[in-house]
Amino acid sequence: MEKKPRSKFSSKLGFVLAAAGSAVGLGNIWRFPYLAAKYGGGIFLLVYLILAFTFGYTMIMTESTLGRSTEKSPVGAFKYLGAPKWLRAGGWLNAIIPLLIVPYYSVIGGWVMRYLFIYLTGQGNTASKADAFNNFIGSAQQQVFWFVLFAILTMIIIFGGVKNGIEAVSKIMMPILVFLAIVIVFYSVTRPGAIEGVKYFLIPNFKQFSYKTVVAALGQMFYSLSIAMGILYTFGSYMEKDIDIEKTTKQVEIFDTAIAILAGLMVIPAVFAFDGGKNLNAGPGLMFVALPKVFNSMGFGRVIGIVFFLLVLLAAVTSSVALAESVVSTLEDELHFTRKRAATVTTTIMLLLGMLSALGFNVLSAVKIFDMDILSFFDFLTNSVMMPIAAIATCLLVLKVVKIDKIEEEIMETSEFRRRRVYRFVIKYVAIIFLIVILVTSILGAF
Ligand code: PFF
Repeated sequence: MEKKPRSKFSSKLGFVLAAAGSAVGLGNIWRFPYLAAKYGGGIFLLVYLILAFTFGYTMIMTESTLGRSTEKSPVGAFKYLGAPKWLRAGGWLNAIIPLLIVPYYSVIGGWVMRYLFIYLTGQGNTASKADAFNNFIGSAQQQVFWFVLFAILTMIIIFGGVKNGIEAVSKIMMPILVFLAIVIVFYSVTRPGAIEGVKYFLIPNFKQFSYKTVVAALGQMFYSLSIAMGILYTFGSYMEKDIDIEKTTKQVEIFDTAIAILAGLMVIPAVFAFDGGKNLNAGPGLMFVALPKVFNSMGFGRVIGIVFFLLVLLAAVTSSVALAESVVSTLEDELHFTRKRAATVTTTIMLLLGMLSALGFNVLSAVKIFDMDILSFFDFLTNSVMMPIAAIATCLLVLKVVKIDKIEEEIMETSEFRRRRVYRFVIKYVAIIFLIVILVTSILGAF
């Protein structure tokens, strides 16, 4: 079949914005703070930073380089590069992960929409009451309503093909998000008692270290940087050949990490200032419990609440569209579905799986998988089990099939490749063993 030439990003900035736009999402703002709170604060942050700037860096470089050189998304890239059959399953694994993430991502996106609605209608103070969040997730109607609304919004963008507008939205949204985050952080850390939270989040306490810290930080790294889910292959394939991959990688990792740290500084000090640090273990609800208290106690809290949840919603939508788009394009390219059919299948799966997660807090709350509610189980399955395996597949592809020298050559065509030694060391000696250890521990830990 004749292939049309692959469309490319319009500019260098286009790639960075698209990659940053898909990287920055609920992972940074919703997920990072609650994991940091739960897994020891400063020690989690330290482990996260080390992993992101060595391992994360290596994976981003590898995936975007493989995408750029093959001009293919993961399934095609594994095939094109001549991976043996068993390894090609790794390409599929990379491609399937977004299909399992986007449903529960939409449930959280629904939570954000609901909080935006609350602030818009001036009921923000009710959201700051104890149990407000639990009552909300305990209501099946509410969960289903907001989840479906968010999922529909995502799919309208996919069906309508207006996803190109997304790049434009990111351009305007990101700077405002950063600015607003700084304002909220400033307010949050200056509340009486908040400084304990700042210390908890920034100063590592080595006594709190356990293998669980590493498992959680690694899963978060994959999630937040959009690694091991096929996304960066696809973005790489849209990248012009003259782009400095190392530089763009650096921009994306710094930006993504900065937003996560700002989110941590918004949420964790508030947990100390308003609850004396009792809620650190709150899990997925943490942001929705802590921030309304901050907004409620500040001047212009309603306006800040509206703008904040609006920006988070935009960040969530750009990410969910990227996730859904990657599923749709795999179905189009590899199974030769028409776009309409691919989008319909994706929507159906999204609604079915997402519904399970949404009902897992109420009607299906008796269902526990390895002691987790349904949403947490999907989160665990993708981040702690499937992504490490997908990353192992990518490393094997580099080491066994493509060969590391070839990748280096490709990177060095346009980059100085300053962290070359780190790259070589990580991919050659550390990555696979480390991933296997983490994988085994996290699976054993689940029983
Ligand atoms: N990295 C996103 C986040 O942190 O929310 C999640 C994500 C979005 C992953 C889009 C992949 C993707 F294509």
